[in-house]
Amino acid sequence: MIDLRSDTLTKPTAGMRAAMAAAEVGDEQYLEDPTTNELQRRMAELLGHEAALFLPTATMANQAALRAQTKPGAVLLAEERTHILVYEWGGPAIHSGLIMRGVRAQAGRVTPEHVAAVLDPDLGPGGIVVLENTHRSSGGRVWPLDEFEATAAAARERGAAVHLDGARLFNASVAAGRAPSNWARIADSVTICFSKGLGCPTGAILAGSSALVERAWESKYLLGGALRQSGILAAAALYALDHHVDRLADDHARARRLAEGIGIDPAEVETNFVAMPDPYGDGIARAADAGVALGELRPGWLRAVTHLDVSDDDVDAAIGALGSRVVNTV
Ligand SMILES: Cc1ncc(COP(=O)(O)O)c(C=O)c1O
Repeated sequence: MIDLRSDTLTKPTAGMRAAMAAAEVGDEQYLEDPTTNELQRRMAELLGHEAALFLPTATMANQAALRAQTKPGAVLLAEERTHILVYEWGGPAIHSGLIMRGVRAQAGRVTPEHVAAVLDPDLGPGGIVVLENTHRSSGGRVWPLDEFEATAAAARERGAAVHLDGARLFNASVAAGRAPSNWARIADSVTICFSKGLGCPTGAILAGSSALVERAWESKYLLGGALRQSGILAAAALYALDHHVDRLADDHARARRLAEGIGIDPAEVETNFVAMPDPYGDGIARAADAGVALGELRPGWLRAVTHLDVSDDDVDAAIGALGSRVVNTV
């Protein structure tokens, strides 16, 4: 079976495992884990923020970001199929008491008009706008910088904070040929995930001001994410920064080649996701019969995701196996 369900399926490479085994460690909660401290320092610098905090997952980083910047009863505005609204189990309402408002937006990109329509100044400041880059459910689409900036400015005009769910920000950065800080520094807080295309077993970073990171420590304890010898995990992330970022371009090229091979316009593929329609709801089963595992992108759509553990041969085999079977259904 060629497994194209998700880029979370990557397994740590031999080099990454060696880096983890050799990591210098200490107690993270005493701020004495040198490897975690180094990862935090490096990520703050890379993202153009004052500080960064290591967390076990991107979900926890997102939730900590919301709690640090909002008060119960405030509005969270995001595109309706962002991870934070759909896949975090109501966390924004449960952990932060937020009112979750989703808007339908082209390519997952919330506009200044959406912000103006949803964030009512009469209800007072204190809301938060969450922007996801790349945007998962639209097929790994990249936010153009000017649009990102305009939406963030509209949020600020309404007194709202801006959180960037950049779980796959490195994919966006490599695809656009721009440093991740270009988007990250526009936002008040940013989440990065290491366990997707970067190939780590787990781990995420939340970056922002020193005051924000200080507040996020409360959530790290509350949610059970305060760790001990986390340097073993942080070492994997440092290894990924050095070895697995530039190569994301290979994943993107393979995704485009896969798209072309199965009859999808490669111009639709911006990063490592290939989106394909599934009008009869049986595409996953039919692809599995042909020997390829696909994932769900959003209702009525499937995804094939390339990553560290998907080779050129796998792409050839997937093209041969899928042919027009899965996608020529519309
Ligand atoms: C856009 C986005 N944000 C956050 C997450 C959550 O990541 P984690 O599984 O590390 O909690 C995901 C996971 O798929 C994601 O796609």
